[in-house]
Amino acid sequence: MTNGRRGDRGSPRLLNAIDRLLQTPRVHGAARAAADLVDLQLSLVREALGRVAPLAHGRLLDVGCGDKPYVDLFRGYVTDYIGVENEVSFGATDASRRRALEQADVLYDGVRLPFDDQSFDTVLCVQVLEHTPTPGKLIDEIARVTAPDGLVILTAPFSFRLHEEPHDYFRFSPHGLRELCTGAGLSVREITPMGSLWSLIGHKLNTFLGLRVARVTAVGQQLGKLGHEGANVDAPRLWTLPVVAPAMAAVALAARALDRVAPDPTETLGYVVLAEPRRAVAT
Ligand SMILES: C[S@@+](CC[C@H](N)C(=O)[O-])C[C@H]1O[C@@H](n2cnc3c(N)ncnc32)[C@H](O)[C@@H]1O
Repeated sequence: MTNGRRGDRGSPRLLNAIDRLLQTPRVHGAARAAADLVDLQLSLVREALGRVAPLAHGRLLDVGCGDKPYVDLFRGYVTDYIGVENEVSFGATDASRRRALEQADVLYDGVRLPFDDQSFDTVLCVQVLEHTPTPGKLIDEIARVTAPDGLVILTAPFSFRLHEEPHDYFRFSPHGLRELCTGAGLSVREITPMGSLWSLIGHKLNTFLGLRVARVTAVGQQLGKLGHEGANVDAPRLWTLPVVAPAMAAVALAARALDRVAPDPTETLGYVVLAEPRRAVAT
């Protein structure tokens, strides 16, 4: 998709001024908190991972770690946090060009994880399965490197806009996730939806307002977000923010409230799965 201004990221002077402003820790913190509040997908994934993080232990491998946005949730529970990335698909994302402290420790070809069998106690894989043309093979690899008493934590989208194109291949139902896990020799402990109908609608509305109307992708990336997007994005329309920002906050708050009072179990942004290697049954 292109338009006349796509790819110029906006006036360099304006973006440099925003960049300088965002270097003030207080401004950065407030802007990031506001951006996270209206980003229902990110906040629901964080909530889901925060709930299961205390189950993580020992050596953790984050498969498709991006710029490790969830390391803070897990670090207190594990001895090592190792991130691995697919060199080709990662290279096309904004996260790969950030001079962030948190980056992948190991790059690989996206086919065979470069680790020994059963070498990790916890394997985390957040919003990655949709980006490989062979998700079953990736889960096989995840199962292979998980220790017999280890834990696998996966999240995958059920409904989410196209992103990281062309490396965006699938969306997942809970039944499909269960099939993929059992096919890899994993036993599923739980599959939990991340939000319901209203956060799904709210997220789509806020995505339209934020990315299509206000076009704040570049600003979001300056805040350390939207790393999965490419670096070439539209010029921001900051003048829309006095209307768009309060509208997005209202949408996010209403969506969260409605998810509580009128949940729909057939709609969600995605699922978090807890699974473990199936134990051989003694005969
Ligand atoms: C939507 S991003 C998610 C990044 C990070 N987990 C997060 O939640 O922010 C998907 C990531 O999966 C990576 N990826 C795609 N195929 C992969 C594979 N076969 N093995 C590992 N990572 C892969 C991409 O490079 C990309 O960084």
